[in-house]
Amino acid sequence: MLNRVTVKAPSSTANLGPGFDVFGLAVDAFFDKVTLSKIDKGIEIISEQDIPTKVDDNTAGLVVKNMKNKFKIKDGIEIKIQKGIPPGFGMGSSAGSAAAAAVAFNKLFNLKLDDNTLVEFAGSGEKASAGSIHYDNVAASVLGGFVIVKTEPLDIIKISPPADLRMCVAVPKLVVPKKKTKVSRSVIPKKIELKKSILNLSNASTIVAGFLKKDSDLIGNSIQDVIVEPARQHMIPGFQKVKNNALKAGALGATISGAGPSVIAFSKKSEDLKKICLEMKKGFASAKIDCQTIICKPSKGAIDQ
Ligand code: HSE
Repeated sequence: MLNRVTVKAPSSTANLGPGFDVFGLAVDAFFDKVTLSKIDKGIEIISEQDIPTKVDDNTAGLVVKNMKNKFKIKDGIEIKIQKGIPPGFGMGSSAGSAAAAAVAFNKLFNLKLDDNTLVEFAGSGEKASAGSIHYDNVAASVLGGFVIVKTEPLDIIKISPPADLRMCVAVPKLVVPKKKTKVSRSVIPKKIELKKSILNLSNASTIVAGFLKKDSDLIGNSIQDVIVEPARQHMIPGFQKVKNNALKAGALGATISGAGPSVIAFSKKSEDLKKICLEMKKGFASAKIDCQTIICKPSKGAIDQ
């Protein structure tokens, strides 16, 4: 019987342009590590970083609480969180810890849960930060690769990305509001023009076809969103410049990563990646914002160490 399990979960980018709340892609830019250890009673959260340690305010805490209740686990659990994914930047930080916690809990208590159930529990942790449950980041972080979230009932479809797909992520050095995801969800229009919905549906379908056909050009060229990106871009200083610079430097497509403010560009040419990063950096610099740029590729899902 195990007394301690450590799981490492990757960062993720949600939406990929037109797939709001439906598409997720695990990326190897950053990782969170969660260690669950059995203790006498209760749930205790420890971390060397400045993150919420109240169970209900912490994504991993909420996942453990929900799983503990559901499976009537009597043991107490200590949750040690090592955050590598920067919180609040659209890289699936809350999802990373939630995914790692769900996978670790499953292993620690030998529950043998299926993928959809694991994602469902991981998603229950997202409520702590986003205020509502959405599964795009957690599904990618739990399962790895590209995921499509089918809801009601929840069913995650996973597709392996093409081997040559690469991304440049620009993470701006901005102070993000607390509950940023909640704020950035509040600016999205409630009613959508049919024409826009058709455009997004067309691009989203083509992205799926691109993943199935292992065609990075098809994926990258279809990263175009006429609904959510226009509504959110004012929250990211220099966004248009960052995006246009990435495209001029050879990126196939570029958009907001998840709820932002990070911007992600897609490419399949490794020789272009450094230039794309540099141009994205210049884009943010035009708005007097510094940023960290990372070249990354699709990642495997959460794994125990
Ligand atoms: N799909 C979500 C959004 C991801 O864009 O609000 C946020 O983590």
